[in-house]
Amino acid sequence: MRHFFADRSEHLGDPDFVKVPLTAMLDPKYILKIRGSIDAEKATPSSQVHAAVFTGRESNETTHFSVADAQGNVVAVTYTLNGGYGSKVTAAGLGFLLNNEMDDFAPKPGEANMYGLIQGEFNAIQPGKTPLSSMVPTILMRDGKPFAVLGSPGGPTIINTVLEVAINMIDWNMNVQDAVNWPRFHHQWLPDELRMESGYSPDTIDLLTKRGYTVKHVGAQGECAAIRFNNGWLEGAADPRSGGTAGGY
Ligand code: DON
Repeated sequence: MRHFFADRSEHLGDPDFVKVPLTAMLDPKYILKIRGSIDAEKATPSSQVHAAVFTGRESNETTHFSVADAQGNVVAVTYTLNGGYGSKVTAAGLGFLLNNEMDDFAPKPGEANMYGLIQGEFNAIQPGKTPLSSMVPTILMRDGKPFAVLGSPGGPTIINTVLEVAINMIDWNMNVQDAVNWPRFHHQWLPDELRMESGYSPDTIDLLTKRGYTVKHVGAQGECAAIRFNNGWLEGAADPRSGGTAGGY
């Protein structure tokens, strides 16, 4: 019931007006997946149950994709309009949206931009200058050969998402899907808060709070698409936080 109503809240409406993903919602594989996630011994709080993200539905976010082939060619691309629909202005006659990348500058040095970042004069607006970006399409090399390719959307959280997924693979030797799935956290100096996804134990949060961190619980952080080279194998991982999939040819 809980799971159905989460989906209902997002995906159902008058089909004369909206496209209801009925086939996806009634797919036995999807239903079995939901059933498998139910713990008969313990209720799952609704805060941990969200409407499904069905593939084919495009997110309004910055997009990252990672590509690799057997010859060791790799591509990492992150592209963005910055905010949702950018500046909300369409180029007349051309049909594409203009970005609002000016907000990646310090629009008013010392005051927060749309991501809450406080930045100084070095990143102030000037003609011909490029604004700072948090986008980090990343190719990791080991012994002169590609080891992994990854990236994510998420404004300033991109930096920490990519850092954490890289550390998970390099230092904790996780396979690429575990590295992507692992709960994430983010601190950006100001505001002075440690944002943490679900998945950390209450003990950890308690210890961090006692050590002086202001812990704030957040929903999904980023959407990492990663590939790892592993002894001749190419392991791809899409982020379960979103509806992407890893594809191969
Ligand atoms: O370059 C930057 O840091 C920002 N323009 C990125 C914006 C972004 O990732 C928004 N979407 N999730």
